[in-house]
Amino acid sequence: MSLFLCPLCKSTLIPDTKTWRCDGSENPKKTFHSFDVARQGYINLLPVQQKKSKAPGDSEDSIQARKRFLAAGCYAPLQQALVAIVAGLVDEDIKKSDAKRPINWLDIGCGEGYYSQALAKLNLDNLIAADISKPALIELAKKGKSANKLWYQQKEDKKTAIFPMVASAAQLPIKPNTLFGISSIFSPILPKAFFELLKKDGYLVIAKPDQGHLASVRQALFEDVREHDSDKFLQELAPYFELIERFEVAANLELSPDALADLLTMTPYSYRAKIERRQNLLTLATNSAFVTQARFVIFVLKKTAAN
Ligand SMILES: C[S@@+](CC[C@H](N)C(=O)[O-])C[C@H]1O[C@@H](n2cnc3c(N)ncnc32)[C@H](O)[C@@H]1O
Ligand SMILES: [Zn+2]
Repeated sequence: MSLFLCPLCKSTLIPDTKTWRCDGSENPKKTFHSFDVARQGYINLLPVQQKKSKAPGDSEDSIQARKRFLAAGCYAPLQQALVAIVAGLVDEDIKKSDAKRPINWLDIGCGEGYYSQALAKLNLDNLIAADISKPALIELAKKGKSANKLWYQQKEDKKTAIFPMVASAAQLPIKPNTLFGISSIFSPILPKAFFELLKKDGYLVIAKPDQGHLASVRQALFEDVREHDSDKFLQELAPYFELIERFEVAANLELSPDALADLLTMTPYSYRAKIERRQNLLTLATNSAFVTQARFVIFVLKKTAAN
């Protein structure tokens, strides 16, 4: 059964190797829509009318900076913690009599897929990696394709099939009540929309910067350092989700000038900081590695029965 909905007419959308087609059943004109799979292996399901700008989401520059920074292993402890948490949820489900198979997972705001690729190694059935940024999806799809993990490469064996998708979190082309879980790693959180997509008792896993995250970087950039308010968004989630666990993850970082420059490009800090402060910070790091600590918090929530 297809998990997807046509972004134009909301009919069932059927994935295929080269072109995805809707069945037109919900379309008053009963005509079909078709969406071509990009050469790199992603599918663009963001119609022009849903685009708020010409190139929405993270830019090519910030995607490339994040790719280099993450490849150096700086946030590996967060990746490992996330994978362990999701693995635990999946294992627990397999033991239940009313198991929620197939296990469909959505990584929303997946970026170039540092966390999605790690999740794809788990015992999931389908992993939808969605982001509004096309350059992010190009990177993610290229990696997924070379690892033979894209949906059309997965017909024979039963490993996780990745669906790399350009889509907006606000209008996801996914059928309601189909997902086992959603992860949002430093990405948008839409309580009602996520609630509707999840199956009964489905999970929402959220990662955010914790208090003290990159404190020495922020002290160097700003006179007034505002703290991350990690828990405020929980109030908005409360009608739809129950918090079941909260984990803290920290990583000590010794950043080279290049890694620090990448960090500044991939975070919103760089836009708000004064140019000269930014320059001073980068100069500091040329003499000896710049020491800081990354601090994250992971929330595991469960869909409530009613809202
Ligand atoms: C801080 S990045 C995190 C990326 C990735 N999860 C990671 O941690 O490496 C936030 C991501 O959310 C995406 N994004 C922003 N608004 C979005 C929206 N409305 N729908 C889908 N993705 C969105 C951006 O393009 C960006 O890739
Ligand atoms: Zn359609």
